[in-house]
Amino acid sequence: MADAPTAVPATPNAVGSAFEGMGSHIAILNAIPAHVAVLDHMGMILVVNEAWRRFGTANSLQSEDFLTGHDYLAVCEGATGENADDAAEVAVGIRAVLDGRLSEFDIEYPCHSPTEERWFRLLVAPLQLGEHQGAVAMHVDVTIRRRAEVEAHRLASIVESSEDAIIGKTLDGRVTSWNRGAERMFGYTAAEMIGTSITRLFPVTRLAEEADILDRLRHGDSTEHFETSRVRKDGRPIEASLTVSPMRDSTGAVVGASTVARDISDRKRLERQLLQAQRLEGIGTLAGGIAHDVNNALSPIMLAVDLLRMSPQDASSRELLDAIDSNAQHSADLVRQILTFARGVEGDRIDVNVNRLVSDVERTALGTFPKEIEVRTSVADNVWRVGGDPTQLQQVLVNLCFNARDAMPTGGTLIISADNVTLDTNDAGRYLGAKVGPYVRLHVEDNGTGILPDDLERIFDLFFTTKTVGKGTGLGLSTSLAIVKSHGGFVRVDSEPGHGTKFDVYLPARTSVVHVAQDRAVERPHGHGELVLVVEDEPSIRQITQKTLEAFGYRVIVATDGAQALAIYEQHPDEIALVLIDMMMPVMDGPTAILALRTLNPTLRIIAASGLVRSGHDATASLGVRYFLAKPYSVDALLAMLRACLDDVL
Ligand SMILES: Nc1ncnc2c1ncn2[C@@H]1O[C@H](COP(=O)(O)OP(=O)(O)OP(=O)(O)O)[C@@H](O)[C@H]1O
Ligand SMILES: [Mg+2]
Repeated sequence: MADAPTAVPATPNAVGSAFEGMGSHIAILNAIPAHVAVLDHMGMILVVNEAWRRFGTANSLQSEDFLTGHDYLAVCEGATGENADDAAEVAVGIRAVLDGRLSEFDIEYPCHSPTEERWFRLLVAPLQLGEHQGAVAMHVDVTIRRRAEVEAHRLASIVESSEDAIIGKTLDGRVTSWNRGAERMFGYTAAEMIGTSITRLFPVTRLAEEADILDRLRHGDSTEHFETSRVRKDGRPIEASLTVSPMRDSTGAVVGASTVARDISDRKRLERQLLQAQRLEGIGTLAGGIAHDVNNALSPIMLAVDLLRMSPQDASSRELLDAIDSNAQHSADLVRQILTFARGVEGDRIDVNVNRLVSDVERTALGTFPKEIEVRTSVADNVWRVGGDPTQLQQVLVNLCFNARDAMPTGGTLIISADNVTLDTNDAGRYLGAKVGPYVRLHVEDNGTGILPDDLERIFDLFFTTKTVGKGTGLGLSTSLAIVKSHGGFVRVDSEPGHGTKFDVYLPARTSVVHVAQDRAVERPHGHGELVLVVEDEPSIRQITQKTLEAFGYRVIVATDGAQALAIYEQHPDEIALVLIDMMMPVMDGPTAILALRTLNPTLRIIAASGLVRSGHDATASLGVRYFLAKPYSVDALLAMLRACLDDVL
């Protein structure tokens, strides 16, 4: 490598000698940290400063080419590799300055070494050298500024691509920056928001919050994970978690705030659903206990009515009996609904034709609703079937339609529809009880009074009603929810006070083979003198059951608890054909007695009875007892079950 003198004119030609006159400035050139070279009118390097030379050496450039006496334009034009395009542009620029076509040329270009990324800015300015025009070329290292720019750009793109809304504002609440997350979350574009007040996003009831937030900011305090509500551009409310931090200038003074806002509407909805589910569970346990006792009181009444009907009566007694019967039935229905809610429901699980379900309910609605209510139904083509109990599902739809009717006292439109939906993980995560997969969605919509937000949280509560006494018991929705849950489904409500309400019932769909349900015939099968052991602690039920069975051809022995039942069975093991046993008794309860009886006779025919449908059923099933009688039972149900159990092939 030739060791050319630094900042010493090479005096290769006349222009060079003109430059000699500037010899006193060479010390100045050397003091400049930028890489400086003086070019003659042809682009030949006349002089380079110390920094230029050092750079060339440090970077193992072909130093010769960059030192005095070399044609800088030719070097640039001949450049190869990554920077060839920039170098060619430099050559064009320098030539334009030398020719007087440009008063200055300025370019920024990358000049990365193998170990670091670097950028330079080249400034070329004309320099009169005697009668010719040369130029000064100066390369300034702008790497630090470029890195800062890249970093700022990277930060900006993180902010831009964030899912969260990131908003900048001044201390008087004017928006200064608005990222894409904010656009998505609030529906306003940056152009719409910047320069306007952040309080546009506040619901009226929350306006006071801003003063507090700004006050904290002025004191340099931030507000973290503050949960509140805001309003989108389309008017929809959203629940948001906000973290507002002070932004400071270089002197440390607070000049504004950055807000990171996250939409937590989904999380809040799930939290509410969970709380509601727990509250319902609590109410259910309480109600279930009461319902159980009422059930026990109703059973003998209902059985007695059936028995009394069998003996001749005068007209007025018959009327009284009818009244007792219908009231007892009504009470039993209420109790059943409460138990449905409290314990969940048992029921058939057959393929239910949704088309038929909707048309049956439509018929009920058209037949009984006032003419001012227009009923519209639509069922999507090829709607899937659901596995369930058609009577219960019909009850759900009827309850929803009755509520809709009550919400439209002066008339309106009731829409009942059904369609198929397939939930993805996103959907499933949003609703308690929802799973990924196919559902049939039953939709009931009215344009009635709507439901106030505070009420909306409670409508599924047992006995929650806004109707006057006699108009509503508050059982409709709680029962419906219990039914839907027992079918593996869930319910969504959307209501706008003054505008109407939409209920969506999602039921897991059966997308495969269709089974047709068989109607079960109801008969009153008699006994043929079989001996039945009735185990029941409640005297009235025991007595009436005994009378009923005897009236229908059975012989009966009674026991008041499990221990007594065992003793009796041990005396008549060959005669007793069947044991009808209550599950909840003092001294020895049903399950214990059943286990003991089974050790005496593993094939003994047993029917277990209980008012707690779900738990009773589960308990008997786990004991291997296949016959379960739900209380309160009718004569028909009792006789049918007895016959079925006795005729069962063991
Ligand atoms: N479509 C609706 N529009 C307006 N409010 C409704 C609607 N559906 C339910 N509600 C509100 O929810 C409450 C509870 O409904 P639910 O069906 O459980 O009981 P109810 O209708 O009052 O009485 P019941 O159904 O036992 O006769 C209602 O009292 C009413 O305030
Ligand atoms: Mg109702």
